[in-house]
Amino acid sequence: MDIYKEIHLDKDSPQHLYMQLFYKIRQLIMEGKIKVNQKLPPIRQLANTLGVNTSTIVNAYGLLDKEGFVYKKIGSGTFVSSKEEDTSGNSMLQKYPIDEDIRLMDRGQIQIKENMISFASATPTSDLFPVDDFKILLNEVLDRDQGDAFGYQESQGYYPLRESLVDYLKEINIQTNPENVQIISGAQQGIDVIAKAFVDYKDTIIVERPTYTGAIGTFRSRGAKIVSIPISKDGIDLDLLEENMKEHKPKFVYLMPNFQNPTGYSYSREKKLKIIELAQKYNTFIVEDDYLSDLSFYNHDNSTLKSLDERDRIIYIKSFSKIFMPGLRLGFLVLPQSIHHKILAAKHTSDISTSGLNQRVFDLYLRKGIWKKHILYMEKIYRERFDVMKNCIEKYFKDIGVSYSLPEGGLNFWFSLPKGYDANKLYMDGAKNNILILPGSIFFPSQNESRFFRLSIAAVYPKGIEIGIKGLAQVIREFIKKDRRKRKGQDSYMPLL
Ligand SMILES: Cc1ncc(COP(=O)(O)O)c(C=O)c1O
Repeated sequence: MDIYKEIHLDKDSPQHLYMQLFYKIRQLIMEGKIKVNQKLPPIRQLANTLGVNTSTIVNAYGLLDKEGFVYKKIGSGTFVSSKEEDTSGNSMLQKYPIDEDIRLMDRGQIQIKENMISFASATPTSDLFPVDDFKILLNEVLDRDQGDAFGYQESQGYYPLRESLVDYLKEINIQTNPENVQIISGAQQGIDVIAKAFVDYKDTIIVERPTYTGAIGTFRSRGAKIVSIPISKDGIDLDLLEENMKEHKPKFVYLMPNFQNPTGYSYSREKKLKIIELAQKYNTFIVEDDYLSDLSFYNHDNSTLKSLDERDRIIYIKSFSKIFMPGLRLGFLVLPQSIHHKILAAKHTSDISTSGLNQRVFDLYLRKGIWKKHILYMEKIYRERFDVMKNCIEKYFKDIGVSYSLPEGGLNFWFSLPKGYDANKLYMDGAKNNILILPGSIFFPSQNESRFFRLSIAAVYPKGIEIGIKGLAQVIREFIKKDRRKRKGQDSYMPLL
C-alpha cells in the first residue's frame, strides 16, 4: 500500500493538522494497512508530499509514539509497534477504545454498545419520559396560543411560568417572586451564563474536589483560575474553604450541597448555614447547583442553601434533567436582587431566550399538578433502583478492596480503589465484561487523580443492577489481584536515605 496516497489533510478544518495526521495513521495501523514493524515515511519527505511543516509530522509521530502505536529507532526512523510490545498488557486494538472513550467522557459523552450494563451515564432512560402527558399539554398550548407559542420569548422567561415556579419553590421552602426567577436552557447554560456575567481572565472560582465536569469546562473556558477544596461525606472542608476565600477572594464558590455529582455526598445543615455566613463575611456569592435534591430517600434533610439564605448570597440553579426530559433544555435560576441585570444581559447574548413553546408546556405541567404525579412516579422508580443498588453494594462489594460511603439519595455512588490503582484501567476490564463504570479522573480540575470511579443507577433497571454489581465485584477482585501480581514482578526502588 502506498501510504502517501492514503493520507489527505484538510487545511480548512478547525482540527489541527497534526491531529488529523495522527488519526489517519492510527486508522491505517488499526486496519492493518500499515503492518507491524513497517517503517513510517521519513518526516521531511511526508511533509513535502503533504505540503505541511515538518513539525506537523513530528507532532503526529510523537503522539503515536506516546499512545504506543509506533516506536522510534534512533537514526533509522519510526516503526509500527507490535501489539505484544504494549507494556500495559492490552493489545493496541484493545487500548484504542479506552483512550477514545476517556476523551469522549471529557466532553460529557459515552459510547454504549448493545447488551452493556451502563453505570456510567447519569441520564434517565427514555422510557421514563412522560410523553403521553406531554402530548396532551402540547396540543393544549397550541390550541390556546397558536402562533404566539413560536415567537421570541422574553429573555427572562415566560411570565406565567415564572409565577408557577414561585409556587413550586414555596413547597421546597424557597420564598421568592417572579422578578428573581430567570429561565435558562438547562443548568449547564445557567453555569455558563453566571460565568459569563462574573468571570474575567484569571479570576478565581472555588469548587469542590471532585466536581461536575461541565462546570470545570465552563470555568476553564472563561480563563478562570480554579481552586478546588476536598469534599467529604458531610460536605466541603470548611477550614480550607475559609482559608481560600480569604486568600483568593473568589468571584463565587460553586457547590452541589445535595447528592453532589459525582460523590453523592450531602452537606450537613451546620455546614450549609456556615457557608452562607462565609459568603457574607467574604462578600461573595455561592452558586448552588441543585440538579437532584428532589430524589431524597430515607427522610434525609435535603434543604437547599437557597431556602436557608437570609443574606441574599445564593445564586440558585435548578435543573430537571435527571427527573424530567433533559432534551427539553429547561431549567431556572433564582437570583439575588443585585445581579438580575448582569445575568439577564449574559442570557440574552447566549441564546436570546429559552424555547417559548417548551416553557408554556412546562407551565401547564406545574399548574395542573401533573408535575407532582410525575415526581412521585420518578421517586418510586429511582427509590427501587437505589435500594437494590445499596443492597447489592453491601452484599457484593464487601472485602473486595474498594472504599465507599453510601449516599442517602440521588443517583450516584462513588468509590475509591486502593492507592496506586487506576480506575481508567478498571473501566477497560469492566467494558470487556459488558459493564460500564465512569472513571473519576474527569471530575478533578487539575490533580491527576485516577483511583476513583462513579456508578450511577439512572440508566440501569433493578435486574441489571443486581447482575452488573455482582459482575463488577468479580472484575474488581481480579483487577486488584492482577495488578498486585504485576507490581510484585516489577523492580522496586528504595530511597537512598
Ligand atoms: C451537577 C450538574 N449540573 C448541571 C448539569 C447539566 O444539566 P442540564 O441538563 O440541566 O443542563 C448536570 C448534568 O449532568 C449536572 O450533573
